[in-house]
Amino acid sequence: MLKIARPMAASVLAMMIASPALAQAKADAPIAVRIEAGAPGAKIDRNIFGQFAEHLGSGIYGGVWVGKDSPIPNVRGIRTDVVKALRDIKVPNVRWPGGCFADEYHWRHGIGPVEGRRKTINSNWGGAVEPNTFGTDEFMDFVGQIGSDAYISVNVGSGTVQEAAEWVEYMTADPETTAGKERAANGHREPYKIKYLGLGNESWSCGGAMRPEYYADEMKRYARFVRNYNPKQTGADAMQRIAVGPDQGKPAYTETVMAAQKGHDWAWNIEGLSLHSYTTGGWPPSYSSTKFDETAYAKLLKETLGMDGLITQHAAIMDKYDPDKKVPLAVDEWGVWLAPLEGTNPGFLVQQNSMRDALVAALNLNIFARHADRVRITNIAQMINVLQAMILTDKDKMVLTPTYHVYKMYLPFQDATFAPVSFDAGTYTQGDITLPRIDAIAARDTQGKLWLAVSNLDPVKSASIRADIAGVKAASATGQVMTAPRVDSINTFDAPNAVAPKPYTAKAGAGGLVLQAPPKSIMVIRLD
Ligand code: AHR
Repeated sequence: MLKIARPMAASVLAMMIASPALAQAKADAPIAVRIEAGAPGAKIDRNIFGQFAEHLGSGIYGGVWVGKDSPIPNVRGIRTDVVKALRDIKVPNVRWPGGCFADEYHWRHGIGPVEGRRKTINSNWGGAVEPNTFGTDEFMDFVGQIGSDAYISVNVGSGTVQEAAEWVEYMTADPETTAGKERAANGHREPYKIKYLGLGNESWSCGGAMRPEYYADEMKRYARFVRNYNPKQTGADAMQRIAVGPDQGKPAYTETVMAAQKGHDWAWNIEGLSLHSYTTGGWPPSYSSTKFDETAYAKLLKETLGMDGLITQHAAIMDKYDPDKKVPLAVDEWGVWLAPLEGTNPGFLVQQNSMRDALVAALNLNIFARHADRVRITNIAQMINVLQAMILTDKDKMVLTPTYHVYKMYLPFQDATFAPVSFDAGTYTQGDITLPRIDAIAARDTQGKLWLAVSNLDPVKSASIRADIAGVKAASATGQVMTAPRVDSINTFDAPNAVAPKPYTAKAGAGGLVLQAPPKSIMVIRLD
């Protein structure tokens, strides 16, 4: 059923988006969301909630690392407020040191006494001086402090197999070996755990502009010779090697790398294929992160929903070579990439984060959950102060973004079992753009509790949702809802809680359990 577009002046629309009274406009008949709570579903791997932290702008320096002598509270140089906030969203893994930066990173510049570390130029990102004060041991300390796993990307573009092999040896070798002794001398006797090892980054572009066949040959050498020596990393805990995969919808890398993987022998293998896809509104990004109208809002949401088709496309190619889905698709860079904030270095990719971006995050997490059989790792770009960040900092100040709150609201979905839902979403139309009015996923958490996440994309109309659970009567719902006065509402250092979740409860009445999702909102509730 298509809703008729409302021809309306932009100023009136802006008013409607901003006006809470109009926003409360009468909801239509409830949308029935049927949850097949008992149906078998894939596990939603907690690693789809991964983060990405590149040496880029103030993503690391200022965002994570302030130095041991900083007046900003820190533990061994790592800021305490950021660690606490990240612990609260149970970050499963952090991808580091890049991005494009990874293919120019030489790990030896970042170990040992700080006075001796080389200062280099970060040629990818604003030509900033890279002091290398945050290196391997600092990164491992950071992931340890936030209780996360390490996803290390090795340098395939400008490094060598030997350099990468020695780096992983440094991180994982027995303390009695020369490499292990060097690590111990730098403060860490026990081998580190590396959960994921990225074999290059965007090797089709900034990582060396390699033909897929050339990359596949290089990948085999890295997969063979870069060894993890940590004796505790065996069986299910073994390090997973993630090969470079497609750029958006281009199939060449997917075909070539998966064909190579299928033909692997005992000597090498890969355990993941990367996919990068940003929501940009066109290239170079010109969409504002702070001031935009309903058309820009709708366009970006439409574009971001393309993630579903992209995964379907590459998963179909992967199925040809790997029908048992042993190799996960790792969407290890995704998110909104918008115009740089005025007055910032354009090479630092600084942008604000709005209610719209929270919806982008929720919609993508829903897509990943629906593809949980193939998508088992994702990394939103990027964790702090860069692109679609969880956290913004300015010296000693810190603010949590609307996207951060989505990650916190979605915690029950980490390692939950996907439960299929069916509903007639209806439509929300803006000009010539038509979107589903709502989106929803459900899952059983690790304790067996049933959770439902609903997004209402319509910026003007609230949505009534009737939760129907196959074979069960839900008596009540408890959780949180997040909305905002405007789609471009943001959190700032002065107004940090403009967009934040609020408690939500509902009880079943004569018409069953009916939830009220406000306009432009995200709701996550437990159904009892
Ligand atoms: O996240 C910013 C950049 O986007 C990364 O460095 C690169 O991998 C991608 O093109």
